[in-house]
Amino acid sequence: MQTNTHEIADRIYRLSTCVPDAAPGGFTFNQFLIDADQPLLFHTGPRRMFPLVSQAVARIVPLERLRWIAFGHVEADECGAMNEFLAVAPRAEVAHGAIGCMVSLDDLCDRPPRKLADGEVIDLGGRRVRHIDTPHVPHNWEARVLFEESTATLFCGDLLTHTGDGPALTDGDVVGPALEAEALFHATALAPATAGTIRRLADLAPRTLALMHGSSTQVRCGESLRALADAYELMTQPR
Ligand SMILES: [Fe+2]
Ligand SMILES: [Fe+2]
Repeated sequence: MQTNTHEIADRIYRLSTCVPDAAPGGFTFNQFLIDADQPLLFHTGPRRMFPLVSQAVARIVPLERLRWIAFGHVEADECGAMNEFLAVAPRAEVAHGAIGCMVSLDDLCDRPPRKLADGEVIDLGGRRVRHIDTPHVPHNWEARVLFEESTATLFCGDLLTHTGDGPALTDGDVVGPALEAEALFHATALAPATAGTIRRLADLAPRTLALMHGSSTQVRCGESLRALADAYELMTQPR
């Protein structure tokens, strides 16, 4: 396995590792590094991927400069290596919503996490990331996304997950492949609030959707989120 790096927006890097047998056609695990005065890593990758991911980060910024470690929710692929990163980056803090800290991260993190209120912004110096609580969307009570305001990049986490080892950025449809992956994995919590939460993310008018699994995109971002919301809404209606 190897980790490929691609700058998908100004000083926002996608680090991508494809695991061939995780799904038919392979399945990518992507981290995103915002190279600002206070560098932020969104997703750490699982613990066993730490050597690959940390080397990829270190090719862009020295590991000891990492200031923030963030992720969508508490699962191994999102945050399994957070303590390994805390160990090599003495000034780094995990930043997550209050629920995630209370339920898991106050205990799991080797250093106390920074608790963020819904809508709170961290000024990275040159970049500003807004924390947005999205409970149970796509899954887990502590789920959240990050929105980088100056590039309008939405770090979607598992939203729009699709299989395959596609390009870093695609102009193609991301909704159809995401619904195929949903049929395969059943990963989304299909709850009454799911569609509304995704539509609120579309209202942010993102210009880049940075996806944790699959290709990111810079076309039809809001439209794709609304189409995804519509599809989930149909699935949640009683038959
Ligand atoms: Fe997940
Ligand atoms: Fe994930």
